Amino acid sequence: MSETKDPSLPDVALYGHAGNEITRRDFLNEITLGALGIAGLGSVAVTYQFFSPNVLFEPATTFRAGNPDLYPVHSVTFLQEQQVYIVRMPEGFYAVSAVCTHLGCVTQWKPDAEMIACPCHGSKFKADGTKIEGPAPRALPHFSISLTADGELLVDKLQNIKPDQVLKV
Ligand code: FES
Repeated sequence: MSETKDPSLPDVALYGHAGNEITRRDFLNEITLGALGIAGLGSVAVTYQFFSPNVLFEPATTFRAGNPDLYPVHSVTFLQEQQVYIVRMPEGFYAVSAVCTHLGCVTQWKPDAEMIACPCHGSKFKADGTKIEGPAPRALPHFSISLTADGELLVDKLQNIKPDQVLKV
């Protein structure tokens, strides 16, 4: 079978590194193989991503909050990573959620005003989480707080307790 030439196309010969002549057909074959290779790699990448687990790593729900002596009486300490306030009052310890019960913004302790304030829509809470004002529908929840065998505070965010349950140390 003879190859017919398109008279409008110039008679082009390409040369490789070693001076070997490359025909237009070889050149187009190389381009096609390269394109298929790139498409194949893309498919492999998308398939790998599809089968990889889409995992969200969150901080542990039970955590140690250190020695009780770290917290002075009448103190409210914000634990950023856990989004919990460790509150120590004369009657004992409690762990209060720092997540607003309105739409879930992280609240801030305001020592000058001695209250917890939500920056999003203005809800305000006492240090023990009791709601003062604002759109939040309820008080900030209290989490279970206890002592480990070696005397450190242990908070369990999966266990809500009544606000009047305090840890006496
Ligand atoms: S999220 Fe706190 S007041 Fe709206």
